[in-house]
Amino acid sequence: MKPEILQIVPMMAHVEIALNDAYRVHRLWEAADSADLLGRNAAHMRAVATDGHHGCTPEIMSALPALEIIASYGVGYDAIDVAVCRARGVRVTNTPDVLNDAVAELTLGLMLALCRRIPQTDRYVRDGRWPGGNFPLTGELTGAHAGILGLGRIGKEIARRLQAFKMRVSYYGRAEQPFQPHTYYGDLAAMARDVEWLVVIAPGTPETMGIVSRTVMQALGPTGNLVNVARGSLVDEGAMIELLQSGALGGAALDVFAHEPQVPEAFWAMENVVLSPHQASATHKTRAAMGDLVVRNLAAHFAGEPLLSPVA
Ligand code: NAP
Ligand code: 8YV
Repeated sequence: MKPEILQIVPMMAHVEIALNDAYRVHRLWEAADSADLLGRNAAHMRAVATDGHHGCTPEIMSALPALEIIASYGVGYDAIDVAVCRARGVRVTNTPDVLNDAVAELTLGLMLALCRRIPQTDRYVRDGRWPGGNFPLTGELTGAHAGILGLGRIGKEIARRLQAFKMRVSYYGRAEQPFQPHTYYGDLAAMARDVEWLVVIAPGTPETMGIVSRTVMQALGPTGNLVNVARGSLVDEGAMIELLQSGALGGAALDVFAHEPQVPEAFWAMENVVLSPHQASATHKTRAAMGDLVVRNLAAHFAGEPLLSPVA
C-alpha cells in the first residue's frame, strides 16, 4: 500500500507525477472542504508536501496524528513551527543551495533595475518619448558600497556578483565569519550608515523580525537603497513607506512583503521603488531542482535512509 501524504499547494508537473507514483496524495488546495478532507483521511497521512509560503499551519499539524515528515519546497522554513516538529519527532526538510544562483541573480537584477531605472526607461521608449529628448542620467552600481544582512549561502553568491560589478562589500550577521574577504560590522545601523545599498537575505525568525527598523533605514538615508529578497517580516514596512515617500530613504527593490500576495498600494506610485512578486527562485531550472529535492527527501524518509536536506 502506498503511504498517504497531504500536498498543500500545487507543484510542478514532474513533482506531482513523482509524488502520485509513490504515494496516495491528498490535494488540500483542491478540496472544496479542507476540514472534511482532513477529517476523513488525516489519521493515515504520514507526510506533508508544502512550500515556503504556506508551510504547515498549527491547525494542520494538530490534525495529523500520524505525521512523520514535512517536506518544504523552499529554503526558508519560517512558516513551519520547527520546535513543535522536534517535540513531536516530525522530520522537516527544505531546499537549500539549489536556489542560491537564481536568488542572487534576481537580486542583482533588481539592483540594476532600480539603479539604472530600467522599468522607467522601458516605459520611456514604449511611450514614444525618446524623440522628445534623452532619458535623464541615472546612478551606477560600479564603485558603490553594499552591505549584506545575512552572509549565508545566498548572501555569499550575492557578494560574489556584487564584486563582479566592482562594488565594495561589507556584511552584518551575529558573528564575524573567518576567511571572508568582506568587512564585518557587528552593528547593523553602523553598516547602513556606511553603505549605499543594504541587501537583506537573512531568515525570517523571531530575532530578525523588524531588524531593518526605522533607525536602520534612516541610517541608510536619502542616497541609500534597500533591497529585500529575504522575507517581508525583516523590514518595518510602514516605516519604509513613510521614509521612501519623504525622501529620507532613497529607494527600495523588493521581492518580498509583509502580507504577500498583498502589496501596499502606496508603493505603486513610487518611482524610487522596484517591485517583484516573490520571484527570486522562480526559474524553470531552479524550481525543478527544488521539486526534485522535495521528492528525494520524501523518498529517503520512506526508505529509511538519511534525509538529503534535514532541518529537523
Ligand atoms: P543561510 O545560509 O542560513 O544564511 C542566513 C544568514 O543569515 C547567515 O549568514 C546568518 O549569519 C544570518 N542570520 C541568521 N540569523 C540572523 C540574525 N538574527 N541576525 C543577523 N543575521 C542573521 O540561509 P540562505 O539559504 O542564504 O537563505 C536565507 C533566507 O533567504 C531564507 O531563510 C529565506 O527566507 C530567504 N529566501 C528568499 C527567497 C525569495 O524567493 N525571495 C528565496 C530563497 C531564500 P549568522 O549566523 O552569522 O548570524
Ligand atoms: C520560494 C523562498 O518562492 O526558498 C524560499 O525560502 O522564499 C522561495 O524560494 C518559496 O518557497 C515558494 O513558495
